[in-house]
Amino acid sequence: MTNTLEINSVNTNYLVNKYKTPLLVYNEDMIEDRIDSYKEHFKSSLFKTNILYASKAFSCKYMYSIVNRKNIGIDVVSYGELYTAIKAKVNPEVIYFHGNNKTADEIKLGLNYKIKAFVVDNLGELDDMENICKELNTTTNVLLRMNIGVEAHTHEYIVTSHIDSKFGLAVDGEATIEAISRISNSKYLNLSGFHSHIGSQIFELDGYYAAIDKLLNLCTQFDYPLTLNLGGGFGITYTDADSPQSIEETCSNIIKYTENKLKELNIEIDQLLIEPGRSIVGEAGYTLYTIGNEKKTLNKHYLFIDGGMSDNIRPSLYQAEYSCDIANKINSKKTNTYTIAGKCCESGDILIKECRLPKAEKNDTLVVYSCGAYGYSMASNYNKLTIPAVVFIKNGEDKLIIRRQSVEELIERECDV
Ligand code: LLP
Repeated sequence: MTNTLEINSVNTNYLVNKYKTPLLVYNEDMIEDRIDSYKEHFKSSLFKTNILYASKAFSCKYMYSIVNRKNIGIDVVSYGELYTAIKAKVNPEVIYFHGNNKTADEIKLGLNYKIKAFVVDNLGELDDMENICKELNTTTNVLLRMNIGVEAHTHEYIVTSHIDSKFGLAVDGEATIEAISRISNSKYLNLSGFHSHIGSQIFELDGYYAAIDKLLNLCTQFDYPLTLNLGGGFGITYTDADSPQSIEETCSNIIKYTENKLKELNIEIDQLLIEPGRSIVGEAGYTLYTIGNEKKTLNKHYLFIDGGMSDNIRPSLYQAEYSCDIANKINSKKTNTYTIAGKCCESGDILIKECRLPKAEKNDTLVVYSCGAYGYSMASNYNKLTIPAVVFIKNGEDKLIIRRQSVEELIERECDV
């Protein structure tokens, strides 16, 4: 039996030799299976449904091409994400534009491309939408982002729906009444529904049920069926401490709850949307690092790797926890306790505080699991480290999706003055 980890049937030694490290490797079949599972179980006979991939989790043309192949939608939050989606030929009919401070250029790009809807965050943005539509003599659909005042069970930095959150309009507030009335009187804006996003890495569905209650309550004021968008936030497994529900359970419970509430209130909706990001790409991503030097201190035994907070800021930013193995000693006995530290000049650049591994040697490959969401998309050039390459593996075949950034590219935009 080989003692080397395979990712979707491809040997990690081969990947390291071919592409070097740090390397982000995705199991494309896993991404597809997870999308298929969402599509299969997020369905109702009472209303239309769709899955919007929250592309902030990992945005690139190839990822959007998977979205196209699977015939789902996306949410974008910036000019850059929309531009990338356009370049990847995503159908504008399934693009929703989020964000709390869209620029005029962003709004114009969305309008010109005739995206499905803008999710409007505040009254100022509503004015901007109205004015720009007037200027371009066009109309658009809007959903209003609601702050439903629910705190999801997760790390406080990534809770987005508490009462003073920067996102959305308070569901019971004056501004919501004002926004609805302004849209109703607008020649350019159609109110197609309401949106909420209650947080990230959520395991319990209660927060979503509370959101459904609040949003459906708003719908009772309207004599036409609206779209409800419940956002993303569905949790994944990073370590043994995480036990998310299956996609099937999550979807069928949300659908059932919504159907029952609709019957209870005796109203209809047109469409129910969810926006999973992490849950689609998170577990499918593996980062491979080369182990360099080690160091023993009074209480710790450090292993230093050739990447760190520049390719994965989540441990330093959110105290996020990950699990790892030595990829070339995958079946060896775990005899040692290590702390995995990155190579950035920052004492907080600790990827994993404590883990059990086989005895590590220089040039071993460390694999960190569940790195597919918000690693690459939040990567930086801190310490002028270059951004790693990205490889996708489908049916046992690897392909380079994004090449490693070069040092020349690091200074390419610097002007000679
Ligand atoms: N929809 C909206 C409006 C969102 O703001 C987000 C995430 C999502 C969907 C997708 O959430 P997901 O299913 O991926 O949890 N950088 C943080 C996460 C920030 C999430 C921001 N919004 C992290 O690394 O954990």
